[in-house]
Parts: sequence; structure tokens; C-alpha cells
Amino acid sequence: MSPPGTLRNIRRTTSCADDVHSQHSRLVPRALIIEDEVPSLEALVELVSREGFATVSARSVAEARERLGDHPVELVLSDLVLPDGSGMDLLDEVAARGAAMVLMTGHASVDTAVEALRRGVADYLTKPLDLGRLKAILGNVARTRELTEEIGELRTALRRLGRFGPLVGNSPAMGSVYDLLSKVAPTEATVCIIGESGTGKEVVAQAVHELSRRRKGPFLPVNCGAVAVNLIETTLFGHEKGSFTGAERQHRGVFEQAEGGTLFLDEITEMPIELQVKLLRVLETGTVVRVGGEESIRVDVRVIAATNRVPEEAVASGKLREDLWYRLKVFPVVLPPLRDRGGDIGVLAEHFLGELNAANGTAKSWEGAALRRLNEHGWPGNVRELKNLVHRAYILADHELSLAHIADQLGTAVPRNGAVTRVPSGTADGDAIAISVGSTVASAERRLIEATLAHCAGNKQRTAEMLGISLKTLYNRLSAYRSEEGAESE
Ligand SMILES: Nc1ncnc2c1ncn2[C@@H]1O[C@H](COP(=O)(O)OP(=O)(O)OP(=O)(O)O)[C@@H](O)[C@H]1O
Ligand SMILES: [Mg+2]
Repeated sequence: MSPPGTLRNIRRTTSCADDVHSQHSRLVPRALIIEDEVPSLEALVELVSREGFATVSARSVAEARERLGDHPVELVLSDLVLPDGSGMDLLDEVAARGAAMVLMTGHASVDTAVEALRRGVADYLTKPLDLGRLKAILGNVARTRELTEEIGELRTALRRLGRFGPLVGNSPAMGSVYDLLSKVAPTEATVCIIGESGTGKEVVAQAVHELSRRRKGPFLPVNCGAVAVNLIETTLFGHEKGSFTGAERQHRGVFEQAEGGTLFLDEITEMPIELQVKLLRVLETGTVVRVGGEESIRVDVRVIAATNRVPEEAVASGKLREDLWYRLKVFPVVLPPLRDRGGDIGVLAEHFLGELNAANGTAKSWEGAALRRLNEHGWPGNVRELKNLVHRAYILADHELSLAHIADQLGTAVPRNGAVTRVPSGTADGDAIAISVGSTVASAERRLIEATLAHCAGNKQRTAEMLGISLKTLYNRLSAYRSEEGAESE
């Protein structure tokens, strides 16, 4: 309860008769509540005002339009099905006023709600209403509005500098990604980042966290592919003491550890399918149940998932549950491969060199021809491959990073006259592998990984660098090959 004299009490005592809890001061945000069933409407008005909102109410689309004309509002909480239309009909008018819209719907219309999220509705609640979730949404509205304004300014400022938060690059392809991120970051929506290895999925997840009201909370990355299968469940959801042999004490899972922050679930398709059902439940209910426990624990966590597989293919091959994908695809963010980012290759190469110069107090620079050569490469390992290449060239170069410092990494040879020729693939070079047409990409990738590992005498760090993939990805691939072999020999 608020002590006497606080904003809430003042608001309650100044409420006017028409809309019992409305008031005209702009000190508190105002919500318009649209619901045709009077008892539900009254209960909602009561609840929303207890959360610190001034309220106005309406029982139909027509009445809601009148109210919108009369009162500036920050939030519109509307039933989907109304006597004279749908709450969705108001979306454009609500958005034009800069207010957030939250829809309430029966379970049967979840499809419509998901569609509504795509069209710009801030969130949706299914009936019967979960009061905890409603409160959480109300709590977010004010902060979300501030953030949206802040991000708008940030976006303009950063665009000029050719970057967006921690993300460097200003190609049109990345510009569309930034637009999407600035829309989705301040909301509570679950985001799914899709992109090839090394495209910057983790950096994007961090950017979303930093541009959200959760930025002061933890950012917790968990790689589902790197956790042993039998530990994933307790890692995610925790366990109670004595729930299995060896569970000597209670353990809080990452959902509880990330309370108030963002949980980054990397390589989501590597999560065992039966656990994907449990994850879906957590996303839908906002609660977790520890292994061996019975209590539902409410968690305030935003989930960002990532995958370097094509989700639809992962669904088709049984690696990703369709219903989980359905939930995640509300806000997919597809990261373009580096080869599709045009001018960003040079911008990133300069950026990574700048970082190295700053860290080491040096002033090395790019030779023009070397920088141009970078644009001709296909970058299968994307930004990570480029970053590693810059690092190696930086170490090799005394002052200027030239063609000679990058040639070996780009699969090029530099003849004496300085002209660059590409080593044709499949030459009789002892380090080349021949891959016949008709091989699957997976088998070619496996052969390349194994050949590079052999070339590096089993040194995984160096192998990963050479391949332009993370060490973690390399470990994942190797362990997958081991289990394939295990399955074959059974
Ligand atoms: N736009 C960018 N600006 C600056 N640095 C970037 C950018 N994109 C990626 N990086 C850097 O490249 C490296 C790889 O990025 P990251 O780990 O986010 O890729 P990923 O898509 O998660 O890869 P994987 O699928 O292998 O996990 C990191 O060192 C990251 O800091
Ligand atoms: Mg990653």
C-alpha cells in the first residue's frame, strides 16, 4: 500500500465521476481500457489504476475512438472482440498517438494475437488474464516509451558514425537490421536471431539487451550446444535438493539467475526436442518449475534465441519444434552474411585495426590494395573470419598491413611481381582437399574441418581461427561428428 499523500492517493482522490479513476494531471501515465463486459471492465480499471495509471474506459470501438479524441493516453488495453468490431481496428489510431497497445484475447485467437504483434501491438494477454503478466506489462509501458525516444535519437546519431550500439557497419543490409532492432529492443518481445556463424548474433543480442529497460540487469548467454545433454534441463530450470543422485543442494537455473535481465539462448536447435516443450511453456507462462520441484516460480526474463540453421529446415528435420518456432518467429532478426554487406568489409577492417592500435598504442594502417582485396573474398566465416584476419595481419605487419600479410589467409599467392592470383581449389597442394560435385554441404564442411584440424596438428584454437569459426562452434561440430560415429557403430 502507498502511504497517504503519494501520487497514487492523490490520483485516487481526484478521480472524476464519469471514468471513476481518470484524472487530468499528466504526472502519471494514462491508460484507455476497452472491454464490453462491465464486471471485467471494472476489475481492469481497478487493477490498472492500482499500478499507477490514470484510466479512461470504453465498451466499444466507437466509444474508444471518442475517448482517444478527448484524452492523450500512453497505453491502450483492449479486448480483441468488441460488439462493433475488433480492438485491432484501433491500432493505427493508437500508434499515431504514440501510445502502446496491448490486446486481450481468448485462447482460441492466439493466431490473431501473433499476427497483431507483427503489426505493431506491444503485447497480448490471453484470457483468463494472468495478473502477474498484466502487472509486468503495465510496469514496462512507461520505461518503453522513454527508451523508444532515446533509441530514435541514438539511431540518428549512430547512423552518422556508421554503427549501431556495439554493431559496426552502415551498409543498407545492416541498416534494415538496425531499424528492426530499434523497434524490438525496447519491447518485451522474444527475439530470434538467425544468421551464419560469425555474423554477430551474440553482438546483436547484446545490443538488444543494452537498448532495453533491462540493461542494468544481467545479460546471460547460454550455448545450448555446449552444455552436456543431460545437464541442459537443470542448467535452464534449476533443480531441488535431492531431485536426483548427486543433487546435494538446490540449484537455481539460468532463468532464475537472469532475473530482471536477458537470457541469450544460443544454438537453440541443439536443445533436445523434449526440453523445447518445457522452454515453450516457460515463454508462455513466465514461470519455471525446478527439476524435482512443484512450485511455479515467476521469472522476469526476456529471452533472445539464436541459431545458425535455417529454422524452417530445422523444423522439417525435427531439430526444432514447430510450436516453439511459431512462438520465436514473432520477431525474427535475420543477419546478412558479411559478403552481402558491401562497404562494411572495409569499415569493419578499419574498425578492428583501430581497436588493436588503441589497445597496443600503435599507429598501423591499411595499404589501399590490401583493403580492396578484402572485398573480393567470400568470407564464409563472416565477421569473425575478418576479425581474425585483421589480427594476424596486424601482428605480421610492421607499419602497413599489405597484400603480403593477408594473402595466406585469403587463399591467395603473391607472385614476385606483386600481382595476386587465387590458388585454384583442389590443386595437388598437400593441404588441399578435393570435394566432388554432388557432396552435401554438411559432408564438405566436415571434411574441411577435419583436414584443417589435421593441418594444425590437432590444435583446436588455431583450427578455429583458420576456419573463421568460434572455438565453441568447432567443439560442437567435433562432438556432433563423434556422436554420429557412435550412432553408426551401434
Ligand atoms: N557488426 C559487428 N561489429 C563489430 N564486431 C562484430 C560485428 N559482428 C560481429 N563482430 C565480432 O565478430 C565476432 C563474432 O561475432 P559473434 O560471436 O557475435 O558471432 P555469432 O554469429 O554469434 O557466431 P557463432 O554462430 O559462431 O556463434 C565477435 O568477436 C564479435 O565481436
Ligand atoms: Mg554465437
